[in-house]
Amino acid sequence: MTNNTIPNGSSTIAASMIDLSQYPISDLSNAESRAFADRCRLEYQQTGLCMLPGFIKPAALESMANETAEFSDKAYFCKSSHSAYLDDGDPNANQSDVANRQEQTYVGSVAYDLIPQNSQLKQLYQWDPLKDFIGHVLGKTNFYRFADPFGACSVNVFVEGGEHGWHFDESEYTVTLMLQAPEKGGTFEYVPQIRGQANEKEIVGSILDGDRDGVVELPFTTGTLLIFGGNQTLHRVTRVTGDKARLVPVLCYAEDPTVVNSESVRQLFWGRSGKDAQPTAGG
Ligand SMILES: [Fe+2]
Repeated sequence: MTNNTIPNGSSTIAASMIDLSQYPISDLSNAESRAFADRCRLEYQQTGLCMLPGFIKPAALESMANETAEFSDKAYFCKSSHSAYLDDGDPNANQSDVANRQEQTYVGSVAYDLIPQNSQLKQLYQWDPLKDFIGHVLGKTNFYRFADPFGACSVNVFVEGGEHGWHFDESEYTVTLMLQAPEKGGTFEYVPQIRGQANEKEIVGSILDGDRDGVVELPFTTGTLLIFGGNQTLHRVTRVTGDKARLVPVLCYAEDPTVVNSESVRQLFWGRSGKDAQPTAGG
């Protein structure tokens, strides 16, 4: 059995975890399902964000959070500084230039291959209707679960001091599940769709200076599924304090079923080489 084969009964389990009365996503050939997915697509196009609070039903949420907290000790932690553009900066500009200013990030990630095969999270990720719904919201014709053995579906773990500094994502979109809130901090903040504006650098500079104009705070409401256009939108996660980890599964997809992460990305986020790992075969 490959990692992407759904074990017997798991499709039923995945469907039972989702509030399908509020979010009818199980069959896009059904008119009601299609109309709902179309509304989500429109919301994403207009705002760069599609937020589905209460996506995971309360009973399933509690057991999934407990289960995930148990394997969260398998997280690899990465401490780094980076520019808002996650690149090497501009060597011709000075250090105070927006292109070169450094933000701090400290986050752990549990690789996909360390998440138990029978976990609720994997059953959810491997459920085809969820993939099809997300692909529809993003307007993708070809849409597959990500074939990377570590990054297909990983769990971000923010412990005491964990944070993710202001940045634009390299990837076009990010799909996350708000699974467990920390005691304090860990707020997701964003400045909607400023990429490409004539005064983009000016806005980014003022946000890095602490200006709150245009900053939106997204409450961490457990059970929420978030589809987010992270390369158009400046965003961060504020510093977490307290003993309870902020747990956020990241569900990844690709338009090519064979594409995987680079070795440098694998080393950075999971501290391992992918040489011995088997691709999940996408799908
Ligand atoms: Fe991001």
